[in-house]
Amino acid sequence: MPLWVDTDMGFDDLMAIFLLQQAGLKIDGLSLVAGNAPIEQVTRNAIAAAGCFGWSWPIHRGAAHPIRAEPETAAAILGETGMQSAGRQLPIPDNAAMMILSQTNAIDALSVWLDDLESPATILALGPLTNIAEFSKAHPDLTGEISQLVWMGGSAGAGNHTPHAEFNAYVDPEAVDIVLNAGLPLRMVGLDVCRTVTMVPEDGAELRVATGKQADLLANLLEGYIQIATSRGRETMAVYDPTAAAAIADPDAVGFIPAHMRIHPTGTEKRGMTEIDFSSQNRSNMMLATQVDNIRVRSLTLQALQAEAER
Ligand code: RIB
Ligand code: CA
Repeated sequence: MPLWVDTDMGFDDLMAIFLLQQAGLKIDGLSLVAGNAPIEQVTRNAIAAAGCFGWSWPIHRGAAHPIRAEPETAAAILGETGMQSAGRQLPIPDNAAMMILSQTNAIDALSVWLDDLESPATILALGPLTNIAEFSKAHPDLTGEISQLVWMGGSAGAGNHTPHAEFNAYVDPEAVDIVLNAGLPLRMVGLDVCRTVTMVPEDGAELRVATGKQADLLANLLEGYIQIATSRGRETMAVYDPTAAAAIADPDAVGFIPAHMRIHPTGTEKRGMTEIDFSSQNRSNMMLATQVDNIRVRSLTLQALQAEAER
């Protein structure tokens, strides 16, 4: 299965990539989008991760800002790096390391990849949909090569960035609308299902005693990620991007139904709200994740992290 990942490279994005690898899936390319952090920081995170974890797939820089909205990051929650840590951080890549960043931008790279494919493609989108929307505008002839666009984003319930909107949807609502109108086969994995997949501080214990080169880094990043919740008085931290990755790696773990989604645009009170209509009044325009085997997805995520920490 030809597989591409579009990401704003926070820690849950990293865990999602580990989960795909642990499932034996080959990633053909990575495209970067501003979201958790500005595109420059997202790029540094991706290059640093490629160096730490030995990634061999090409990495392509994408959109620095949303299609219409002003740029918005998750710095208030995740800090300037977009990846909070309880100690050791990803290294700051030097100029030599930055050389692994492809000279081909995300849109051109996606078009070359899709044009060369012999079989239908899967794209996993883990950030705002800006790159995917821009691609569908520039290459409408290639969108038919995509058999599924699995997106961690939106919510059939409350938001997390505002009471109405999940972060990835909030950052670029216009991109979501373009993707819907382009007829891309969107499979939305929203906050409502991701919130049932959780981690607790004790989950980091095994990482702490792992013997791999990056065990200490991963233990600190996981602890920092969980501290997003515990520092705010919550006992558990939801695992977002790995839940979307599990929909590809273990399709039986996430169940979808057809639904109609409308997104509230930039400039409106409920900007980024993904309003779902389950009635048959509106023809469905996407597939919505409504069920998840949360224990299975949590286990897949922890197994993938542990495997990476033992390497
Ligand atoms: O709302 C959670 C989503 O926003 C995740 O993909 C996280 O990495 C951020 O991109
Ligand atoms: Ca993400």
